[in-house]
Amino acid sequence: MTTTTALSPLQRLRLTYQPCLPTIFKDLPALKIQGKGTADLPSEIASFFPLLAKQPAELFFVHEDLQPHHPKKVGVLFSGGQAAGGHNVITGLYDALTLLHPESQLIGFCDGPQGLVQNKWIPLSLEKIADYRNQGGFDLVGSGRTKITTAAQFEAVEATVRAHRLDGLVIIGGDDSNSNAAWLAEFFLKNKCETKVVGVPKTIDGDLKNEDIEISFGFDTAVKTYAETIGNLKRDARSAKKSYYFIKLMGRSASHITLECALQTHPNMALIGEEVAAQKKTLTQLALEIADMICVRAEQGKSYGVILIPEGIIEFIPEFSLLIEELNALLSLRAQEFNQGSTGQQIKSIMAALSPDALRCFQTIPLEIQQQLLLDRDSHGNVQVSKIETERLFSEVVREELMKRKKEGTYTGTFSSQPHFCGYEGRSCLPSNFDAQYCYALGHLAALLIDQGATGYICCIKDLALTVGQWKIKGRNLSTMMGIETRSGKKTAVISKALVDLEGSAFHRFSTARSNWRLQDDDCMPGPIQFFGPPELVDAITDTLALGT
Ligand code: FBP
Repeated sequence: MTTTTALSPLQRLRLTYQPCLPTIFKDLPALKIQGKGTADLPSEIASFFPLLAKQPAELFFVHEDLQPHHPKKVGVLFSGGQAAGGHNVITGLYDALTLLHPESQLIGFCDGPQGLVQNKWIPLSLEKIADYRNQGGFDLVGSGRTKITTAAQFEAVEATVRAHRLDGLVIIGGDDSNSNAAWLAEFFLKNKCETKVVGVPKTIDGDLKNEDIEISFGFDTAVKTYAETIGNLKRDARSAKKSYYFIKLMGRSASHITLECALQTHPNMALIGEEVAAQKKTLTQLALEIADMICVRAEQGKSYGVILIPEGIIEFIPEFSLLIEELNALLSLRAQEFNQGSTGQQIKSIMAALSPDALRCFQTIPLEIQQQLLLDRDSHGNVQVSKIETERLFSEVVREELMKRKKEGTYTGTFSSQPHFCGYEGRSCLPSNFDAQYCYALGHLAALLIDQGATGYICCIKDLALTVGQWKIKGRNLSTMMGIETRSGKKTAVISKALVDLEGSAFHRFSTARSNWRLQDDDCMPGPIQFFGPPELVDAITDTLALGT
C-alpha cells in the first residue's frame, strides 16, 4: 500500500475530494428494487442464457420505508486495460456496502479474472482503500486479461466464490469481461450457487455503450489527457513550422477516442476507422488524401500540421483486415511452424502461407510493421494493435507519395514527420471529476444490486450530461445486450462493441467542421484536466456525451 507521505501534493488533495452522488442515493437503505419488462431474447441467445432470460430486462429502485439489510460479503475484480476511476468503483462499493450494513465485507481478487480462478485475493478494509480514493490506476488489486472460458475455469471460479461464501461478485470490465459476467451469472444460477454477479462498464475505448450505458468510465479522463497532448503538439507544430505530427490514439477497435479528441482539438486531419471501412478506402487512397492536404498547405507556406490516426484503423482498411484475419488464424492454428527460425525466416514462411490478396498488402508495408504484425497475440488471439506503429506506417506511405510528387514536380515543399502515440498515459491518470463521480456512483449501484439479490445485471447510470444529482440509476439484464459472434470457429453470445455511428451527432459535428481545420490552424488548445476552478472547467463533459452519441 502507498503511504500518503509518498503522494504528490495534488494526489493528497484529491484524497480529500468528496464525489457528489445522484440524489437517489441520499437514502440508500430505503431503496427497493423493482423489475421491469421481460428479457425477450432472440431464441439463439435465449438458448445460451435460459435462466437470465427469465429475469426482468431492467431493474429500477424506488423509495420505500427503511429496508432491513444483512451483512454481505462481496468480491470485486478489475478485468482488462486500466481506466481512470476504477479505484472509485471500489471505494464507492465499500462505502455503500458498509452503509447498508456495517458488518459487510469486501475482498479484492488479484490481477484480474486469474485471481478468481486461482483464489488469489486480499481483504479490502477502510484503511486499505484509504489511499486510493480518487486516485488513478488499478494497482489496489491489479488487473489482467485472462478469459474464463473452459469448464475447468468455471468450476474453479465456483469453488472460489463458494469457499468465500460470497453474496456477490462485481466484475469491472469492458465488453468481453461483461460477457463473461453474464456467463458466470448463468452458470451460478444453474448450479444453485448463491453468489450474485454484477458488471460495471469500464474501458477508455468508449465502445461499451448502448441506450442504457451512455459511456464507459475512463473515456472522459483518457480523451482529456490525449487532447491536452494533441493541443500542445498542435501549438508546437505551428510554432516550429517544420513537422507533421502523426499521432496514433488508443482505441482497440472503435474510433470514439479519436473522434472526441478531434472535436476537442481541431487537427488538420483525423481518420475515423468506421468511415474508412464504410467507404472501403485503401491505405494508398488514405496516403493520397493526406499527401493532397500536405501539398495544398505547402502552397500556403505551411509545412507543418497534426494528423490523428486511431490505433484500430488498420483493421478497418479492407486489405488490412483481410491480412490481419489471415495472420490471426495462421499464428493461432500453426503457431509452432511460424515461431521457428530468425525473424526473416518467419516472415518468409508466413508470406508463403498467405493468400495472394493478403500477400500483396503485406508486401506494401515496411519491414518494421511487418514484424509488429507478427508479434504475440492477445488472449483472444487478435493482433495487439497498440503495439503496431500505425503512426509510422502512415508517415512512411505519405513520405513515399510526396517524394514521388517531388520528382514529378507537383510538390515543392519539405516534409518532415514526428510520430507520436497517445496511449497508456491516458489510462491510469488521476480521474477527472466526471470519472471520479461516475465511478463512485457505479460502486454504490453495484452494492445496491447485490444487496437486493440481483444477478446477471450491469450497472447503468443515465442522464450523465445533467448534474450529478439528476443522474438516474438502473440495472440492465446482461443477456439483453448480447449478440451472436463466431469466436475460434464457434458461435457464441457476446456483447458487441459499439462503433462510431456515422449518422450520429458527434460524427456529424466533426464532418461539418473538418474542412475548415484542413487548411486553417486555429488556437484551440484544451489544456490539462482541471480539478480546481469554475464548474465549466472541472465538471466539463465530453462532446460525445453532450451530443448524446
Ligand atoms: P480494455 O478494453 O480492456 O479497457 O482495454 C482497452 C485498451 O486500452 C485499448 O485501447 C488498447 O488497444 C489495449 O487496451 C491495450 O492493451 P494492453 O494493455 O494489453 O497492451
